Amino acid sequence: MKIYTAEEAGFCFGVKRALSLIEQLYEKEENIEVYGQLIHNNTVLKNLEKKGINYIESLANLDKNKKLIIRTHGITLEEERYLKQNNVLYEDATCPLVKKIHTIIEKIDQSEHKIIIIGDKNHPEIKAIKSYSKNGIVINSIEDIKKIEKMKSVAIVAQTTLDTDFFKKMIAAILDKIERVEIFNTICDATKVRQEAVKKIAPKVDFVIVIGGKNSSNTKKLFHISKKINPNTFHIEKSSELENFELLNRFKLFNSVGITAGASTPPEELENVKIFFKNLKLDKEI
Ligand code: F3S
Repeated sequence: MKIYTAEEAGFCFGVKRALSLIEQLYEKEENIEVYGQLIHNNTVLKNLEKKGINYIESLANLDKNKKLIIRTHGITLEEERYLKQNNVLYEDATCPLVKKIHTIIEKIDQSEHKIIIIGDKNHPEIKAIKSYSKNGIVINSIEDIKKIEKMKSVAIVAQTTLDTDFFKKMIAAILDKIERVEIFNTICDATKVRQEAVKKIAPKVDFVIVIGGKNSSNTKKLFHISKKINPNTFHIEKSSELENFELLNRFKLFNSVGITAGASTPPEELENVKIFFKNLKLDKEI
C-alpha cells in the first residue's frame, strides 16, 4: 500500500498554544479546569482528564478553587463579563485568530454596516463571535441568504474553519442581493492550507482517511472536501476504527491511501494510522 500524507495535517498553531498553556499551568501544579471542550478531540480530552483536568459545560458549575481555562473557540461577551464581575481567576486560551474576529466585529458594529456571520450558529466559536455584535445575523446556506431582508450595506465575516469554496459561493450570492459589501475573509490559514493539501492528495489516491473528532468542525470540512473529489473518503477518530471488518475488506482492494487530519488531531493519531497501513501491506491474509 502506498501511503501519502497531506503536506499540512494535524495540530494547528491555536491548538498547540492552548495545550502548551495548560501544560505550563499543570507543571506549576495549578488547579485548573476548562470551560467547554478545550478542542473537539476525545483523545486530547481524555489525556487531560487523566491529569485531573476536566471541563465544565456551564459557568454555574464553576469550581472557585480552580483556575478556569477558556477554550480555543472563545466565550461570549456576557460570559466574559460574568467572569470579571465574579472575580473568577481565568486564563484565556482563545485562539488569537478567533479574537481577531471579535475585534473586527466590535469595530464594524460602530459603523452603518449590518453584520453577516457565515458559519454554524450552534458552534461555540460562532456563539462567541455573534455576542460581539448588536445586529449580527448568522447564516450557513444559500437558502438562508434568500431569507435575508433587504439591506443597503453589510460586512461579512466567516467561521475560522469554513470551507473556502463554500465561502466564495456565499459571497457571490450575497453580492447578487446587497449592493455594498465589505468582506473580511476570516477563515484561518491553518484551515486554508489543510483544505488545499487534501485537495492535492485526494485525486491521486484510491482512498482517503480523514482523522479527527466527529464533532470537529474543521475535520468535517476536510472530509466533505475530500469526499467531493474522491468518493472513497472515510472519517475516523482513531486508528482502532480501521480494524472494522467491513472497512478492512475494502482496503484490500486498494493500492494507495491519502491521509489527512483536522487541526485538533494529535500527531500520535496520525502516526498510528500510518503504522496501520504500513502493517497492512505486510499482511495480505487479513
Ligand atoms: Fe486557531 Fe485556526 Fe486552529 S482559528 S485554533 S489556528 S483552526
